Amino acid sequence: MHKTSEWLQTFSSEKNTKSHSLDSFRPCVKISVTGGKGGVGKTSIALKTAQELAKAGHRTLLIDCDSNLSNTAIKLGLPMDNKFEKLLSSEKTFEECLIVQGNFHLLPACNGSIEVFESKINFDEVIIDIIQCHEHEYDYIILDCPAGMSVSTLTLNAYCDHRFVVVTPDKSSITDSYSLIKVLSNRFNVIDNHLIVNMYQNDRQFQKVVMTLTETIENYIGSRTTVLGGIPKLDVSAEGFDTFFLSEGKNEFHKNFVKLLYGFTEKVGGPMIRNSSAGHLAFEHDVQ
Ligand SMILES: Nc1ncnc2c1ncn2[C@@H]1O[C@H](COP(=O)(O)OP(=O)(O)OP(=O)(O)O)[C@@H](O)[C@H]1O
Ligand SMILES: [Mg+2]
Repeated sequence: MHKTSEWLQTFSSEKNTKSHSLDSFRPCVKISVTGGKGGVGKTSIALKTAQELAKAGHRTLLIDCDSNLSNTAIKLGLPMDNKFEKLLSSEKTFEECLIVQGNFHLLPACNGSIEVFESKINFDEVIIDIIQCHEHEYDYIILDCPAGMSVSTLTLNAYCDHRFVVVTPDKSSITDSYSLIKVLSNRFNVIDNHLIVNMYQNDRQFQKVVMTLTETIENYIGSRTTVLGGIPKLDVSAEGFDTFFLSEGKNEFHKNFVKLLYGFTEKVGGPMIRNSSAGHLAFEHDVQ
């Protein structure tokens, strides 16, 4: 493996440098989708967020940060190709490893790659290098973070402008998100986070999770929590889940998710919605 700086040179192509002019400069908004606990919906939410932003006209890059248990391509029904290991060894460029669907770009990671398993790379450095090299090409960069609290994941969370902390009503999920937010605050000076409650079964349960977590964070950590909203537990079969979750059906779930996202893009004052005629984000601002 090259040193990060040398490696960086290998994919900062001339084309990318040229497309970066001050006239067209708009700050890229970087969001990590995280949560500590596994299986709470991070990847599903990261994918839908990135796809909906892209549909609304934003140039959006989703980076799969689950380095060797990558699920993003699988959820889209695409083959796993482990191209990412070739990016790490500089045998392929960033562009060659991307999956491009209009404004939606995806950089998948690997699945069970022995090279990645045995490599001594600092994954957070690699991802931050990629972001720094390409952020001028995007309005939004979304990171799909793995479960757990590794230094690498915490560093990526802290590096992003915003964190979507995904929590479910499960006690262990609430505890794990609290622990994540605590370490991010104490060791990385992260003072604010956004909360998404996933898989809640009724409004009372949603409110209870919000109250428990936000009050405990406020009293014991002191960081700010912005509640983005919730996603109910969907009654869909395991086989049909990804298609239903990512599709644009005329159902309440999809409409509410888009509202939730619109509430966020309005608040952060990031790049404004370009394609208002698309209808995807043409809702009143009433997140919860
Ligand atoms: N709102 C929901 N309603 C019902 N089931 C859900 C919901 N959200 C997620 N799930 C279920 O949880 C599974 C795991 O989702 P996902 O892969 O997005 O979680 P994750 O947090 O990324 O997991 P990991 O920690 O392993 O990366 C989904 O495949 C789906 O079966
Ligand atoms: Mg995941």
